[in-house]
Amino acid sequence: MTNNNLTKKIILIGLSGCSSTGKTTLAKLASKYLPNAVLIHEDDFYKHDEEVPLNTKYNIRDWDSPEALDLALFKKELNTIKNTGQIATKLIHNNNVDDISKHTLSDQFLKELVNKTQYIDKKYKLVIVDGFMLYNNHDISSEFDLRLFIRAPYKTLKKRRDARNGYQTLDSFWVDPPYYFDEFVYKSYEENHRSLFQHGDVEGKLTTESSKEIKDFNNDDGVSIEESLSWVIDQIVFYCKD
Ligand SMILES: Nc1ncnc2c1ncn2[C@@H]1O[C@H](COP(=O)(O)OP(=O)(O)OP(=O)(O)O)[C@@H](O)[C@H]1O
Ligand SMILES: [Mg+2]
Repeated sequence: MTNNNLTKKIILIGLSGCSSTGKTTLAKLASKYLPNAVLIHEDDFYKHDEEVPLNTKYNIRDWDSPEALDLALFKKELNTIKNTGQIATKLIHNNNVDDISKHTLSDQFLKELVNKTQYIDKKYKLVIVDGFMLYNNHDISSEFDLRLFIRAPYKTLKKRRDARNGYQTLDSFWVDPPYYFDEFVYKSYEENHRSLFQHGDVEGKLTTESSKEIKDFNNDDGVSIEESLSWVIDQIVFYCKD
């Protein structure tokens, strides 16, 4: 990010949700097609492998615990970005996402997209933040101007996660053991997000209170990437129109 961002108003846009909902895919596409947008990944704030909490029952690192991330640094960086338009720390980005070109966007769709985005006021600089733990913690959640929440049913998430090869960490390559999705990924998602949902049911609806702050979208299989990207862009255009 360059200094001329100081003349722009920074809008922090969170794109959160459980692992494999499609956050990174959508964040990459949105930041590619939105004018004046940059992308930041919460995954770049993971601690070094040996600092990630060790689960003693399974004797493995718990990559899905909030403590696996350097949240103090993350919060500090979100603040710096908001105030100066610049990120202070040099971060290592491991790009743990499938090839997004497998999702095709038609020429007609892209034309409509360009049309829509012209309503975004030029005074704004958009900072899109892709992360699995953005709204569970008030300190972090309160940094965002717009909170988007990508969802998909448990079954879809488990299937998508199972199809992934693994994740590059700062010091190694992580491959899920067979129990990992249920015992770590989904369990942690549930524990950390149930307070946002009616009756604590993360497969159900957001509470009236949290739906004032968070806008959610179901990105299940069968929903085209054009549909889900449109939703993301529409939310941003609505928030930022001049
Ligand atoms: N609408 C969709 N239909 C089918 N597959 C989808 C859809 N959206 C995303 N996917 C696929 O889901 C998988 C997970 O996507 P992605 O890596 O973006 O998830 P993520 O939320 O960033 O996960 P993580 O938190 O683990 O990084 C990818 O293979 C992606 O192509
Ligand atoms: Mg991701």
